[in-house]
Amino acid sequence: MAGSEARKAIATAVEVGYRAFDTAQWYGNEVETGLAIAEAGIPLSDFLITTKVHPERMNAKSFIPSVRQSLSNLGVDCVDVLLLHWPPIDGDVVPSLKLLLEAKELGLARHIGVSNYTVAMLKTAIDVLGEPPVTNQVEFHPLLDQSRLLNGASDLGVPVSSYCSVARGRVFEFPEISEIGVKYGKLAAQVVLKWILQKGVSLNTMSTKSKNIRANFDIMNFELSNVDVARIDALNATNYRIVGKTDNAFVPEWD
Ligand SMILES: NC(=O)c1ccc[n+]([C@@H]2O[C@H](COP(=O)([O-])OP(=O)(O)OC[C@H]3O[C@@H](n4cnc5c(N)ncnc54)[C@H](OP(=O)(O)O)[C@@H]3O)[C@@H](O)[C@H]2O)c1
Repeated sequence: MAGSEARKAIATAVEVGYRAFDTAQWYGNEVETGLAIAEAGIPLSDFLITTKVHPERMNAKSFIPSVRQSLSNLGVDCVDVLLLHWPPIDGDVVPSLKLLLEAKELGLARHIGVSNYTVAMLKTAIDVLGEPPVTNQVEFHPLLDQSRLLNGASDLGVPVSSYCSVARGRVFEFPEISEIGVKYGKLAAQVVLKWILQKGVSLNTMSTKSKNIRANFDIMNFELSNVDVARIDALNATNYRIVGKTDNAFVPEWD
């Protein structure tokens, strides 16, 4: 999302009650995110803003200036959560993790974390940071078996958060999800998002449409049964991964 579409969607989301927003240097919408939040008329301290460092800026020369630029784009002195967007191409995560820690020590970020890390990379992250990163943001939806990653992260004490939570719409091709929703008076998207939360994974959802933004927020008043969770689990046999080697050069060998 960019430009006025992003600003409008964020304004709607704030009105509905969302307070956590996820952006990145790569998305080119940090400025719109900052403006929409500033226009909301709600104290900045009520929000949790995440941004991510572009993998091409994970070198000693560019990293810290790029974070300062992100803060300026967002109109904040310190971002709530700063993530490394991708591991580097050569797989050596240590230098960028040291730079991430430096950004925190300089007071540019309250919390630091990673995205698209494997379990082995998370182990290195804990060694370098001296504590678990606050999140590992990864592709997570019912059509992909992420149990190895989730169990590995959980053993290490690293919280997982989702992207592509509705598999960019592909989940809607599975009628059993809507069927489950009927029992709870919920839509297929709401069932999928609740399934993610019940896996212990925190959620990122994206929509340009007011109706969907509202629906995606309205998921805290029901609980899927174990039987329904298991029915949705079984869809991972689809083995549908959206973000793979052909998407960008930074994609690691997934767990
Ligand atoms: N860390 C990373 O490397 C990474 C990678 C990819 C994405 N992300 C983050 O994750 C966010 C979401 O991921 P994503 O956009 O790739 O995939 P997604 O959330 O699976 O799919 C977004 C699409 O789903 C539709 N949608 C959302 N809610 C809906 C609903 N209730 N009913 C019907 N359709 C619905 C939206 O269409 P409408 O606009 O028409 O509602 C939108 O086109 C991104 O915005 C980004 O912040 C991070």
